[in-house]
Amino acid sequence: MMRRSQALSQLAVLLLFLLVTPSASTLTLDEACKAVGASNRGVRYDYCVKFFQACKGSATADRRGLAVIAAKIIRAAAVDNGKRIATIKASRGDDKRILGPLADCDELYSSAVDQLDAAARAIASGNLQDAVTNLSAAADAPQTCEDGFRELGVSSPLAAEDSEFSKECSIALAVTNTL
Ligand SMILES: *[C@@H]1O[C@H](CO)[C@@H](O)[C@H](O)[C@H]1NC(C)=O
Repeated sequence: MMRRSQALSQLAVLLLFLLVTPSASTLTLDEACKAVGASNRGVRYDYCVKFFQACKGSATADRRGLAVIAAKIIRAAAVDNGKRIATIKASRGDDKRILGPLADCDELYSSAVDQLDAAARAIASGNLQDAVTNLSAAADAPQTCEDGFRELGVSSPLAAEDSEFSKECSIALAVTNTL
């Protein structure tokens, strides 16, 4: 049995720890984004923090929670890109050259939505290998989408969205890789 003095000193240490360290949640977001910044040249710490701030739950999430949140934020981005594609199709429907690659991008982003759903579930259940597979598949969407336009020699109407999506996927992959 633990002696009382020992218990008290442990309590004192715990209190001191709580006083001198920032809240555990702040630490997690901060740490996670430092890890992301260190492992990704293209994605800076500030960008990562801003990315997570889109979701309130990030402030109190642990590392695994952050990975799930990342997958969900990106899922929403994939849905948005699908809408953006529909808008472009409606406004530039007479530009026959972009229609083929645009349809491919539509399919890519719609499959990315499924991959990201699967990734969020896999992270939550601790099935990290599957999660990385699903995230990597989703992360390929923007590049493959861009390649379609490049191969036809037309400029991509989705360049900004694709580049943003790539960066966001790097965050999700980097955080998941630290679990
Ligand atoms: C997610 O990855 C797993 C493992 O590779 C795979 O079996 C599953 O089909 C993927 N999910 C989707 C929606 O593709």
